Amino acid sequence: MQHPSTKVSAPSALVWGVKTSFRRYLRTAGGTVEVQSPATEDGFFFVFPLVSDAASGSGSDDQDTRFAGTIHFSAHFGALDFSLRDPAVIVRHGAAWLTVDGATSTNGGAERLMIALLTGGPDRAEAERTHAELIETEQIELWPVLTAEGSHLFGDVYPAETMLDPLYVPRSVIAPASR
Ligand code: HEM
Repeated sequence: MQHPSTKVSAPSALVWGVKTSFRRYLRTAGGTVEVQSPATEDGFFFVFPLVSDAASGSGSDDQDTRFAGTIHFSAHFGALDFSLRDPAVIVRHGAAWLTVDGATSTNGGAERLMIALLTGGPDRAEAERTHAELIETEQIELWPVLTAEGSHLFGDVYPAETMLDPLYVPRSVIAPASR
């Protein structure tokens, strides 16, 4: 299933709507969504610009790509209060993961939360077709599947392995151009 408002217009960014049902819930709960610079909003999507693209680990395929900006969600008079801050895509042993800065709620540590495994999507044929369309824009569509840590960030409402909305990143994030 392709997202109804798919729009991929920021080739050097991580572009993501997070989860349609969560966004709808926030609206109906009278919550707020605060987009903090350098993140911006483009229609339904949040756009986190690319910061760095550094291979970690010599001689391996491990790779970290960082993006910048914060989306802060709040509702229920502050009972719901968390952020997605400075997301990164990290590749470890051939698997791609979405991480965010964990210094969102408590004591401001530098820990990063590994919130989702990035997958090819629920419908492979569709994912491949979409993928082919995205090659022209040098972007790739990835579907985040929540880890336990990610589930916790969203208040333990979605169980681990819940699939969130697809995100869009430069292809080089998971496939270095030089290989
Ligand atoms: C006073 C506190 C809260 C109340 C009264 C409340 C109430 C609700 C209700 C009634 C729903 C069901 C909405 C629906 O199905 O349409 C819901 C869903 C949800 N709540 Fe809360 N909630 C509270 C706190 C929180 C907190 C602290 C978090 C996260 C940190 C959270 C995250 C969620 C999520 C992720 C959903 C599922 C939205 C979806 O995808 O449909 N809630 N909440």
